Amino acid sequence: MKALILVGGFGTRLRPLTLSVPKPLVDFANKPMILHQIEALKEVGVTEVVLAINYQPEVMLNFLKEFETKLGITITCSQETEPLGTAGPLALARDKLVDGSGEPFFVLNSDVISEYPFADLVKFHKTHGGEATIMVTKVDEPSKYGVVVMDEETGKVEKFVEKPKVFVGNKINAGIYLLNPSVLDRIELRPTSIEKEVFPKIAADQKLYAMVLPGFWMDIGQPKDYITGLRLYLNSIRKISPSKLASGHHIVGNVLVHETAVIGEGCLIGPDVAIGPGCVVESGVRLSRCTVMRGSRVKNHACVSSSIIGWHSTVGQWARVENLTILGEDVHVGDEVYSNGGVVLPHKEIKSSILKPEIVM
Ligand code: GDD
Ligand code: MG
Repeated sequence: MKALILVGGFGTRLRPLTLSVPKPLVDFANKPMILHQIEALKEVGVTEVVLAINYQPEVMLNFLKEFETKLGITITCSQETEPLGTAGPLALARDKLVDGSGEPFFVLNSDVISEYPFADLVKFHKTHGGEATIMVTKVDEPSKYGVVVMDEETGKVEKFVEKPKVFVGNKINAGIYLLNPSVLDRIELRPTSIEKEVFPKIAADQKLYAMVLPGFWMDIGQPKDYITGLRLYLNSIRKISPSKLASGHHIVGNVLVHETAVIGEGCLIGPDVAIGPGCVVESGVRLSRCTVMRGSRVKNHACVSSSIIGWHSTVGQWARVENLTILGEDVHVGDEVYSNGGVVLPHKEIKSSILKPEIVM
């Protein structure tokens, strides 16, 4: 089987992290978001992944070359010369997706995290005889997603409304699809939205089906949701493979520590923390609900909560970093500095406190 991952868009909502790498390469739970997806696709028998890209294809491909061999999966790029939205890229990659076998293919948004129940999706798709299946999940705030109204019994989609202004329902498009090749006949090669232009039409033809995604789900394309997503992800790891999580008297709740990270004496870490490769957490540090990315150092007695520390950054001694502070790559927070929601661009040095949420350029 084949899969296409939509990796376009500029990831502006995840700045400053996306100033260093395209959104799909931003680390989540110690590895790039897109690797979580590619590994799960490989698991269900996908042999070729097409990345639908609209900028910086070299960065992406250079990075993924290494994993092609490691995972034994073919990864190719389909590059747009102008952003084609969420449907146009499928038309562009048509020849890569269709091989005459008539098999359906997967399409994924690159910023969604879940247990990726792809095998269940294939099974359900084969039972209904429609053209397309989308996975849906329930959320409290449906207006920022695509909302799906479906027949609970059969899964047939009655209505698909992207980002509705008035309440339509609370089941939303999870950004994970299985499509028959015939869906490509409905898409023109131009900038176009699968959510606004394609799904509503397939639904009107009674050929669009939805299945409720088992387990957790989150779109991690914004800092707040990224932090919530990590909590849900670690919770699911606790159920599926608890031995991957750290344990010990200095750990509270679910914590992921990369095997190459070093943790000092007298720390208290957790809940919901990911500490990446090569990180150094010195003595007496307090970390909760945060991500510390590859190569970063948190110095003695610093405290980090509800924040993201970008790659190769440092947090000084007795510093306090909290309330959705997001440090870009290679940011250095001085000793005893306080950051309350600072969003700091890459390669900066922070010498004085940031007292209220603001962007530091
Ligand atoms: N190749 C390419 N070209 N990819 C694109 C383009 C483009 O022009 N524009 C967006 N994408 C990719 C993004 O990288 C992302 O993976 C996916 O398409 C969806 O775009 P987002 O910008 O993340 O959309 P959203 O989060 O507002 O809404 C979408 O996702 C929700 C679930 O997270 C929609 O699919 C909603 O219906 C859905 O509920
Ligand atoms: Mg998104």
